[in-house]
This record gives sequence, structure tokens and C-alpha cells, in this order.
Amino acid sequence: MNLLLLGSGGRECAIAWKLAQSPKCEQLYIAPGNAGTSAYGQNVPIKVGEFDKIADFCLQHQIGMIVVGPEDPLVNGIYDYIKGNERLAGIRVIGPSKAAAQLEGSKDFAKGFMSRHQIPTARYRSFNAEQYDEACRFLEELQAPYVLKADGLAAGKGVLILPTLDEARRELRLMLDGMFGAASATVVIEEFLSGIECSVFVLTDGQHYKILPVAKDYKRIGEGDTGPNTGGMGNCSPVPFADDEFMQKVEERIVRPTIAGLQQEGLRYQGFIFLGLIRIDRDIQQYHAGDPMVIEYNVRMGDPETEVVMPRIQSDLVTLLEGVADGNLDTKTLEVDPRAAVTVMLVSGGYPGSYAKGKVMTGLDHELFTQGTVAPADSARHSILFHAGTARNDAGQVVTAGGRVIAVTSYGSDRAAALAQSMRGAQLIEFEGKYYRRDIGQDLAAWD
Ligand code: AMP
Ligand code: GLY
Repeated sequence: MNLLLLGSGGRECAIAWKLAQSPKCEQLYIAPGNAGTSAYGQNVPIKVGEFDKIADFCLQHQIGMIVVGPEDPLVNGIYDYIKGNERLAGIRVIGPSKAAAQLEGSKDFAKGFMSRHQIPTARYRSFNAEQYDEACRFLEELQAPYVLKADGLAAGKGVLILPTLDEARRELRLMLDGMFGAASATVVIEEFLSGIECSVFVLTDGQHYKILPVAKDYKRIGEGDTGPNTGGMGNCSPVPFADDEFMQKVEERIVRPTIAGLQQEGLRYQGFIFLGLIRIDRDIQQYHAGDPMVIEYNVRMGDPETEVVMPRIQSDLVTLLEGVADGNLDTKTLEVDPRAAVTVMLVSGGYPGSYAKGKVMTGLDHELFTQGTVAPADSARHSILFHAGTARNDAGQVVTAGGRVIAVTSYGSDRAAALAQSMRGAQLIEFEGKYYRRDIGQDLAAWD
């Protein structure tokens, strides 16, 4: 089968690496891809929002399956676009329908969905600009800190957590007045949940599901979780506090009601569900310390979570995705690598503020790095590089082309060993302004 993968980040590089290992993958195309994805398939200069061009490409290249990486095309309805086009009938699309993608596209929708299906989440209300006074009264009912969320997609920046009521009122006014454009015309105000977060990924055909390896994301730029938020500075998997008891609650209280809710509401979903969860550290509502609650849904894989999750999936990904698209995921098996994986993201100096691009990168072909689609079992001694913001310059050199530049993923018998290996890899790659965190996963030692 020929496959088309949409996207250009580290997530897509990791998915491409995994798809290309499949004996069922004849030709893999990545649109638009990056300097790393071309090792696993052919990059195609089409943007993820160019649906007409994607459709034409699928016909010209006999694409049997489209795997959608990022949320934007999903929220904009690529699933419905492909499925609604007679010429494209029969192409499998991995991702939710436009209606189901509202789980990420609208925080108000997601909160409403959770409340309709009794899925544990923070108490909330949504407000528009005309309801400012009412919103302020709701804020007064809550305890500090105050959580304000732009309803729509805001490139990961739409959540503000404010320490005082005065700041919350001021920022709320700014949000409703267009701080995030149309995305914050509606603002969700919710109860603050205190605890430790993890990312749980569910693959579903709309009826059956598989829970993929759990990951923990490190969002802050600085070591010890300090400084501004980024797209993600590293990840580790497994996560010691997501133990059997916790995961059983996740499955019973969150995963099953989510799938059942999608079915009841007629929301077609054949793809990845990303549950942003928190293990609460104090009792709240009817829940107890140690219980899982939902912070957010995303309708895609996480980045850089994917860079630890894909390497830990031992089963053939194309086979699993066929199960997703064909509605028989229950007949497929999911085997997970017992080893730990740690990803360290190398970023451009200045990120998440302004940063330079076009810096030449060296060290990528060091023997410590696997080249091509080496199967996980062969790579115990190696690290895997997943390119994120990279490109090739006119001279053919790999150069930086984004804030998050490249992910170094390693396996280890435990987290510390995997981190040590990724540290060696991070040191071997050079580019001007390189920065990375050296403490990914270290805060979890207390849970081991
Ligand atoms: P989101 O974009 O919804 O993932 O929110 C970004 C981050 O804000 C989350 O990863 C959490 O760290 C934090 N956050 C969001 N909602 C809450 C909440 N209700 N209580 C505490 N932290 C939150
Ligand atoms: N790493 C968080 C996300 O992908 O949204």
C-alpha cells in the first residue's frame, strides 16, 4: 500500500520512521515533511491545508491510506473532505471527522462532552464578550490560581493561569477583546487542578481501542520546569506514577466513556486520541488524591510524545492503522517494548522567543545514530534522531528551520540509562545556539 503522511514536525518524523518499517508500506510520501523524513519516504511540497492538492496527489500516486499528523487539517475537516469525495472513495483516513475533531478545536465543546458523559474534569463555564460581568462573578466563586482558556485553536498558547483575581479579570477582558483573535471570542474558565500530568494515547476505530504507551512531557524551557512554556523539550515513557491502578481508572472512567460518548453522539472517530491527564494530588469534587482527571483532549498524537511512543510500539503500525480504518482493531495486537525511552529536544537559542534559522548542523551521521529504519531491537546501543525544524540549504546541508530542531531518542533498561544515552547524542550534534534540557525524567525518581 502507498501511504501519505501529512505534517512536518518531529511527530511526523517518528511516525514516518515507524510506518516505513512496515512490510505493508510500499511507497511512503510525506507532505511537506522535513530534512529527516526524506530518509523514510519521499517529501512532497504540499501543505497540510491544501486539500485539493492532497486529493489530486492521492489519485496520481494510488494512495491507500492518509495518516494525518497535526490538528489543523483535522479540525478543518480533511476526514470529511476525503470521505465525501467520490473519486477518493476507498482511501483510508486516520483521524477523526470534523465534528469529532471539535474535541480539540473547541475547549467549550470538549468540556460539554465530558460533562455529558461524566468524565472527570475541572468544573467550568464558558463566556463571550457580552458576559464579562457574569464571568467575573464566576471567577469570584473559584479559588486562585485562575485558569482561562481560549475556546479555539491558539497554537498551544491559549491557556493562561493567573495567580490573582485582578489579573484574571484583566486577562479575561483582553482575551474576550481578541488577544487570540477569534479563538478567544469564547473563553472557558475552569477550576485549577493540582497534581502531576501525563499524556495517554488511545488508538480507536470508533468502537474498539488500544491504549498506547504513556508519556510525560516536559513543556518548560528551563531545567527543573522553569521559564516559559514551549512546544515540548523532551519526553519519557513509561511513566512510573501511571501504574496499573491509575491506568485502570483511566480506562474505566475516561477511555471507555469517551469512546461510548463518541458513538452515542454519532461522532465518527478513527484515529489517535490524546488525553492530557492529571493525577490529582488532593481531593476535588467526588475524586480522590491519586485519581486521573482530564485537562484536555487532542485529536492527534503529541509532539514530542510521539518520539518516545512510536519507538516503544513493537507491533506493525500499518497493521494497527488498517484495524483503525476497517473497524476491526480488536483483531490486531499491540506489543510494547519493555525498555524505557527518553527523548531530548534540541532547540534554537532564544526559543520559545525569537531565534535564528539557517544554522548548519553537524554530527548527524555519527555512528551512535541509527540511519534509516533500523528496527528498535537492533538499536539498543544507538540513539534515533527525529528531525523537527530542519531543512536543507542550497548546498544540500541540513540547517535549522524552527525553534524545536531535532529530537534525540534513546532506549535504556531504565529511564536514567535512556537519558544518559540521549545526553551523549545531544552532545554530538552541533549547531550555533543549540540548547537542550539535561533533566528529562529526573523528577520522576521519587515515583520509582
Ligand atoms: P492545555 O492547552 O489545555 O493543555 O493547557 C496547557 C497547560 O495548562 C496544561 O498542560 C496544564 O499544565 C495547564 N492547565 C490547563 N488546565 C488546567 C487546570 N484546570 N488546572 C491546572 N492546570 C491546567
Ligand atoms: N506535547 C504536547 C502537544 O503535543 O500538544
